[in-house]
Amino acid sequence: MEFISRGAEQTRRLGMRMGTLLQSGDMICLVGDLGSGKTTLVQGLAAGWGSLDNATSPSFVLVNVYRRPDGCKFYHLDAYRLSGAREAEDLDLDAMLDTGPMVVEWAERIQDALPEDNLRVNLSWMDEDQRDLVFVARGERYQKMLSLVRKQVFGVT
Ligand SMILES: Nc1ncnc2c1ncn2[C@@H]1O[C@H](COP(=O)(O)OP(=O)(O)OP(=O)(O)O)[C@@H](O)[C@H]1O
Ligand SMILES: [Mg+2]
Repeated sequence: MEFISRGAEQTRRLGMRMGTLLQSGDMICLVGDLGSGKTTLVQGLAAGWGSLDNATSPSFVLVNVYRRPDGCKFYHLDAYRLSGAREAEDLDLDAMLDTGPMVVEWAERIQDALPEDNLRVNLSWMDEDQRDLVFVARGERYQKMLSLVRKQVFGVT
């Protein structure tokens, strides 16, 4: 699925739609250059999921944890400063996934430490206000998720 976003607000809105579908164990991988809109998309994902906190770029810690009134957690990992999959394995992502969904920025840097089944979003800069988002689902769970998103966004399956 491909989506051309014409502004940060539109990217957030798309994230919110997807965020409502997220459950514990879900893995969303974001791939795209600096300023391509990864954190902006996460702001929507976390809000749609029901986060009480605003999503921000994890700059001092590697993982931001957002909370919901029911106690559920949402993990936001920035792999930019990780040296690779081995360093990511030390974070014990599986334990986090047991208690919430996770979104990873710069996911390609730690690909081998991430589950094979996932929803990947490739973001690219087109011009100042436009970003190209390409969604790739791996595994049944994410194919279902993507077809629901497609239905909501384009009104077709
Ligand atoms: N259509 C759009 N979608 C998303 N962001 C947009 C769009 N148009 C403009 N922007 C702007 O582009 C910037 C995207 O920044 P953001 O922090 O989301 O990128 P990032 O991919 O997380 O970068 P980094 O690699 O530094 O973490 C924001 O300032 C946002 O307002
Ligand atoms: Mg970012």
